[in-house]
Amino acid sequence: MTIDVDKVREDFPILDRTVRDQRRLVYLDSAATSQKPIEVLEAEAEYYRTCNAAVHRGAHQLAEEATDAYESARARLAAFVGATPDQLVFTKNATESLNLAAYAFTNSSVPHGQGDADPRFVVGPGDTIVVTQMEHHANLVPWQEVCARTGATLRWLGVDDDGRLELDDLDRVIDETTRVVSVVHQSNILGTLNPVRLLMDRAHEVGAIGIVDACQSVPHQHVDVHELGADLMAWSGHKMLGPTGIGMLWGRPDVLEGMPPFITGGSMIETVFMDHSTFAAPPKRFEAGTPMVAQAVGAAAGAAYLERLGMDDVAEHEHQLTGYALERLRAMPGVRIIGPSDNHERGSAISFVVDGIHAHDVGQFLDDRGVAVRVGHHCAWPTCRRFGVPATTRMSSYIYNDTADIDVALDAIRAAQDFFGA
Ligand code: ALA
Repeated sequence: MTIDVDKVREDFPILDRTVRDQRRLVYLDSAATSQKPIEVLEAEAEYYRTCNAAVHRGAHQLAEEATDAYESARARLAAFVGATPDQLVFTKNATESLNLAAYAFTNSSVPHGQGDADPRFVVGPGDTIVVTQMEHHANLVPWQEVCARTGATLRWLGVDDDGRLELDDLDRVIDETTRVVSVVHQSNILGTLNPVRLLMDRAHEVGAIGIVDACQSVPHQHVDVHELGADLMAWSGHKMLGPTGIGMLWGRPDVLEGMPPFITGGSMIETVFMDHSTFAAPPKRFEAGTPMVAQAVGAAAGAAYLERLGMDDVAEHEHQLTGYALERLRAMPGVRIIGPSDNHERGSAISFVVDGIHAHDVGQFLDDRGVAVRVGHHCAWPTCRRFGVPATTRMSSYIYNDTADIDVALDAIRAAQDFFGA
């Protein structure tokens, strides 16, 4: 293993607790949210203990220090993905980041009397927006809404039986009518790692804006926005050791510059008159109201922790664990992996169904043994439909998991099969 898991675990107080009759907690639900190391908890607490104030407005020392803390967090999180601070917008979560992107199109397309909209964001009948059949609802429903409000048409790239994107008709799905290509980097339900660079290059070939949902990739591997080739990229803090309540939207400067605001009010304006206002430059244009300062500070501490471990080692550790789990799941009679069953171009989220046992029963059986997994449609209902299953059980590992955790989960699945006679 490339990571000293025992040492890492010492940094995560929650992993010391027991659940369900004094059983050791085996946390295999990091695709939903990661656990937090002490230094993230401390960074947030320290911020509140020492310099809590409203940023960008007070004329006092605390406000100055709070502003420094917030802007330093922005710089750290931007650097984490190879970007500069002016390119990073803080939101409350990745869902809000993706809505911010989607509303840029709706708000540019619906006449609003705020001057000329950037034509790159104006969509209407005859235009298409392209997603994939493995999107999280957060990168699907907002685009359905854009289409409903503007008359644009939604298209998608299908998924094959192994959980990979169908790329044979890429040039037909993404064509001259396409204005937006918004795709998930690593599927939260299937674990598939998609060839995002190829999709972004195709988007640019036809003059579309390319957007990446990187929620499941940024916490788990080295991601560089320039290598991905996207125009906008969304991800969240709470899946990368940070607190809840903080999301990120990175944007190419000229793209952010062309986007109208999503939420309006204080802190995002340039000038305000009784009858109209003008807006600040990005990223402030997109950060109306008092921002999530403590959460940004906590997320930056999470990034610092991951940087210390080294993202290549994080990725290699997960790759080894995923390979270990896949090999054993493949050998289990009555278990079907939903998603790539080999360990090539995939992440650590592994979904599966057990013949004859509903996913919720599998989940409960695992929970009885101290194993935390997610069950259900994982906010990817169309993906479940594609595979003809109402729900899956998903285990997802991270830096604090080892093969012993996987073994406990696999034993619990076998016990469920024995119990249900499956
Ligand atoms: N998107 C998160 C998940 O996949 C919540 O569980």
